[in-house]
Amino acid sequence: MKKTYYITTPIYYPSGTWHLGTCYTSVVCDALARFKKMEGYDTFFLTGTDEHGQKIEKAAQADGLTNVQEYIDGKVALLKKVWELLGIKYDKFIRTTDDYHKVAVQKIFTKLYEKGDIYKSNYEGHYCRPCEAFWTESQLVDGKCPDCGRATEIEKEECYFFRLSKYQKQLEDLLNENPDFLLPVSRRNEMINNFLRPGLQDVCVSRATSKWGIEVPFDKNHIIYVWIDALTNYITALGYESSDDSLFKKYWPADLHMVGKEIVRFHALIWPALLMALDIPLPKKIFGHGWIYFGDEKMSKSKGNIVDPFVLTAKYGVDSVRYYLLRDIIFGNDTNYSLETFLSRRNAELCNGLGNLMSRTAMMIHKYFCGICPQPTTPGYFDDDLIKTANSVYDKVKNHIDQLAIHEAIAEIWKLVNRANKYIDETTPWILAKDPNSNGRLSSVLYNLAESLRLIAVLLKPFLIETPEKILASLSCTSPKLFKDAVKFGGLTPGSEVKIIDKLFDRIDIEAEIIKVKLELNMEHNESSQIDTNTKTETPAAKPLINYDEFTKMDLRAGIIKSAEAVKKSQKLLKLSVDIGYETRTIVSGIAKYYTPEELLNKCVTVIVNLTPTKLCGILSEGMLLCAQNSSGNVVLISPEKPVEGGSPIS
Ligand code: ME8
Ligand code: MG
Repeated sequence: MKKTYYITTPIYYPSGTWHLGTCYTSVVCDALARFKKMEGYDTFFLTGTDEHGQKIEKAAQADGLTNVQEYIDGKVALLKKVWELLGIKYDKFIRTTDDYHKVAVQKIFTKLYEKGDIYKSNYEGHYCRPCEAFWTESQLVDGKCPDCGRATEIEKEECYFFRLSKYQKQLEDLLNENPDFLLPVSRRNEMINNFLRPGLQDVCVSRATSKWGIEVPFDKNHIIYVWIDALTNYITALGYESSDDSLFKKYWPADLHMVGKEIVRFHALIWPALLMALDIPLPKKIFGHGWIYFGDEKMSKSKGNIVDPFVLTAKYGVDSVRYYLLRDIIFGNDTNYSLETFLSRRNAELCNGLGNLMSRTAMMIHKYFCGICPQPTTPGYFDDDLIKTANSVYDKVKNHIDQLAIHEAIAEIWKLVNRANKYIDETTPWILAKDPNSNGRLSSVLYNLAESLRLIAVLLKPFLIETPEKILASLSCTSPKLFKDAVKFGGLTPGSEVKIIDKLFDRIDIEAEIIKVKLELNMEHNESSQIDTNTKTETPAAKPLINYDEFTKMDLRAGIIKSAEAVKKSQKLLKLSVDIGYETRTIVSGIAKYYTPEELLNKCVTVIVNLTPTKLCGILSEGMLLCAQNSSGNVVLISPEKPVEGGSPIS
């Protein structure tokens, strides 16, 4: 029987927009699953969506939809399209609103309750609504949510608890005795120091305040909240607690749960404890990867600073995107995305490195051997080194993949790309071609180059989608299913046709491209398709200097918004009454797309009060609110750092 390999991504919240960061975990898992498959494993790759909870209910409402499921269905359809674009080939896509999942979750909840590991009590804690997480006083950072930095609220309610504290000792042993269970090591230390050492507290696993979730089967006032619903997807997807659990029997325990670093706590502590309580074997490994930042900020759906996978793949191709994610990011670390880095790697490694090797080799075989792969007849100097490099790549790549050093695995393949390019310069085929006595040597050189390309394509198959197939098609090779049949040097059959194909990658003028993208962005100004333009090459256009007297002509004051309403006939404008101390002004502001009227009430803002009044949509506006606009076109109000009374002068 084949060895199995079960790998999972987290299940994604279908709120907001899909961006490069959300694609990251899945591209990594896809590459690993493809790699293991080619190693001969019977693999199962699971991904899906986490569809319950208040955050999603609210996102649907904010989108103007009262039917939450309809909102989610739209998001899920889009996510599946992104996965398709990026070549993510999952074996199963689970949705937590699937019926089989709901039934299994209820059975699990009841089982834990009957066992005494779930009990009812009162909860009071600091709750972060966007993250749907409760925090203890000591976990807050400056009084704010340690994950997202937003304000928390004190919440008190009756709820069911999971007895996490009971598993304290077992979890300590798990992490201490199995140094490979949670990687990288830094995450393990964080779990031990920040959570195990202070002592685990029982966790709230139900909610009475929301209806969008799976009902607690024996208490209709409660829904099962977040973690028992979400984490159990890894087993319900395999049919655990269903009439057919054959997949569960075959694939569990999971070989690898790949997660972002912010959800390591749930996967490395709560999830093992739940499994212990259910008498189910534990997953073999959890890896907490880093975040992709976009201009020093976590790229998030709610902040709007996104990089759109649709735009990126359409402009630069799926393999450029996958290459960047898998090669540039030191796996496990955080990274700062920039279009400049993305394009530099594309130019240097994909276009110059691999692309040139392909086009030079195919062209020379056409020129000197009429497009037929020659028979190697005359070995020579430099061959040994090239062949040795080629024959050792697979083992090295495999080793790096076993260590989950994905970037190193790809770097290893590029050692062969570079070695082969150097071999062209060393052997100078164009000189051999002129020497009538060197025809045998030329055959060997060109065979060795074509064969190196075949090997490179085979090794790249798990990581890139289109490029390996293009190379293999050019060499008239079939695509191998298993590494073991294809990684030994010498596999290419002499006499087969070598076709000249279109360039694998076009070279891009990076500076010009960045300017172009910036211009497109300014013209489009929509929120859904941005590309990072945050690179060194730009300096914002400077305005001419003004002196202090000119500056003081502006009468800037703090204002308190007393009422706000939408302006009929306009999607952009809000009509506000703003208290500026000595009077209340009507101000019409173009912020309707960024703030709801409710959000604005009693907000302290900055007003320029001596601006000539002007009529907007028939309403006289007596002043203007100051705002900042970020690179993706989102607008935020400028507020005094601490609220002050209306009318306070600003200078
Ligand atoms: O956390 N860089 O879902 P999610 C790197 N539903 N990775 C990023 C990222 C970024 N900028 N932004 C998001 C959830 N991710 C829960 C999981 S599992 C039982 C429940 C990654 O949609 C993030 O780290 O917020 C996580 O691995 C994945 O996207 C889904 O995040
Ligand atoms: Mg998240």
